[in-house]
Amino acid sequence: MTEIDWLERWRQGRIGFHRETPHPALVAEWPTLRVAEDARVLVPLCGKSPDLRWLAARGHAVTGVELSSLAVEQFVAQSSEPVTRWETDDFACVRQDAVEIWCGDFFHFDLEPTVPFGAFYDRAALIALPAPARQRYALHLAQLIEPGRVGLLITLTHGDPERGPPFSVDAAEVERLLAPNFEVTCLDRGEAADDGVEESVWRLLRRGPRDAG
Ligand SMILES: C[S@@+](CC[C@H](N)C(=O)[O-])C[C@H]1O[C@@H](n2cnc3c(N)ncnc32)[C@H](O)[C@@H]1O
Repeated sequence: MTEIDWLERWRQGRIGFHRETPHPALVAEWPTLRVAEDARVLVPLCGKSPDLRWLAARGHAVTGVELSSLAVEQFVAQSSEPVTRWETDDFACVRQDAVEIWCGDFFHFDLEPTVPFGAFYDRAALIALPAPARQRYALHLAQLIEPGRVGLLITLTHGDPERGPPFSVDAAEVERLLAPNFEVTCLDRGEAADDGVEESVWRLLRRGPRDAG
């Protein structure tokens, strides 16, 4: 699944991953992270998810990063609030209320032009990527998040490592990819649905340089 494939999916409206309501695990588990209200939250590969507005309604400034301009335009069209637009070398950015979306490749997104993130939220971002990109993603995420900051990660398994997206990412892979830079705690492991899909929810705490490994 390449960037071009994602853009084509959005063009054709093949976005079965999209939810119209905030993800139940976000609603249930975010408060347990005790993220300061004024913390800016990073949402990689954000699509046009209502989770962005849910986080903003908790008081957070939110920065999403999304490849598809269609997703971004569909997101801002859901509200009548004014939209501010600006561009950087790699991104076309919009801001509406407390939500910014940077449209471009997450792997080109760096901390330089923005304020530090106080927290992050990944639903269907890690699991949207094929195996080699998941490794890159885990490292890139760690570079963007300062020691001591937390995030919520939602993954799923479906038993077929070749099939995706969403790709099946099990507990061993979550540990292998993320434990070098994050303290990984499983908050919830759902019952397998009829189709064998099982969702897991993780708390990730960015390790400091001295407690890495
Ligand atoms: C499975 S969807 C999840 C979207 C959103 N997190 C949600 O819960 O609805 C993955 C999204 O990542 C975007 N995407 C894929 N590769 C990307 C990249 N390299 N940089 C930024 N966005 C990317 C796709 O366009 C798609 O909207």
